[in-house]
Amino acid sequence: MSVISRIIGTGSFVPKKFVTNHDLELMVETSEEWITTRTGIRERRICVNESTSEIASKAGRAALEAAGVSPQEIDLVIVATVTPDMSFPSTACFVQSELGIKAGAAAFDVSAACSGFLFALDCADRYVKSGGFSKALVIGVDVFSRLIDWTDRATCVLFGDGAGAVVLSAETGARGILSSHVHSDGSHWNMLYARGHVETNPFEKEEPKEAHLVMQGNDTFKFAVRTMGAAITETLEASGLKTEDIALLIPHQANIRIINAMRERLKLEDDRVFTNIEKYGNTSAGSIPLAFDEAVREGRLKENDIVLFVAFGGGLTWASSAIRW
Ligand code: ACO
Repeated sequence: MSVISRIIGTGSFVPKKFVTNHDLELMVETSEEWITTRTGIRERRICVNESTSEIASKAGRAALEAAGVSPQEIDLVIVATVTPDMSFPSTACFVQSELGIKAGAAAFDVSAACSGFLFALDCADRYVKSGGFSKALVIGVDVFSRLIDWTDRATCVLFGDGAGAVVLSAETGARGILSSHVHSDGSHWNMLYARGHVETNPFEKEEPKEAHLVMQGNDTFKFAVRTMGAAITETLEASGLKTEDIALLIPHQANIRIINAMRERLKLEDDRVFTNIEKYGNTSAGSIPLAFDEAVREGRLKENDIVLFVAFGGGLTWASSAIRW
């Protein structure tokens, strides 16, 4: 029998500190009304003296507990992030150490911005299905509060920090990841990027470059609606499913207007599309697994329900996957 990767546990973690739209009114020229109507975001959580690997580990631990799996059973750890603690070691290695996952397990990061979790899930699925790995911990996490320019009202209102995780198990039943698709188009890299920590060596004479996140908001918006629509069609077709089969669509939480445009295009009722952007903003790679964990813990899913994930992000990247829960 062929092997399928089943999600047997989910977890998430967000930092304690709330930053509301009213708090942002005191920092930049904006308004609660502008942010809410243009984005759907009311508040976000921000890390204070907490690292990416710390919040990733907390989400990972919650997923292991939900799955009833001990750290010693995990043989693969993949962390999706573009805000790692360090250039190296990988955030996944820090998580491995923090959670006491066995030495010798494979641990590495993937970078695909807001699509990162679905790239990591796709990667883990392929490792698990090809044999040799029986239990994988897959985490999406980002701390964009350290990447954005807090004086730029066009971007600082959009993001928050957070992490989500799933445990995959190699099984032979019908439940699990049905199909998964990942795509990139590097020719549009400059639509959405962040150099991060910028340094030069003594032989270079370049002017210092912008380290913070740069985004062409309107173009990103159009790209998101177009690619996520196409990605959903691709995944449904590859899985032999129709729109009516979707019990719950969990899209990347970037802007409520992007999500609503997609929902209307697919003619899905409100209760078949999960959103929590109001509480967390865009948590980048954390967004989908954080939403998925909330949906699971709120009892929104029953056995054998079809769940669709879809995301877009810097790169440009876009991805989707369908699971039978
Ligand atoms: N408060 C008040 N006014 C603002 C703010 C703000 N925070 N930000 C921008 N404005 C102003 C602009 O300056 C502009 O003013 P002007 O008309 O006088 O020039 C006006 O509001 C309209 O600006 P737009 O950019 O046209 O506003 P829009 O309706 O397009 O919304 C937004 C902007 C929210 C950024 C939207 O384009 C969007 O959501 N884009 C997608 C962003 C996204 O999904 N990013 C994902 C990143 S994924 C990853 O991989 C990191």
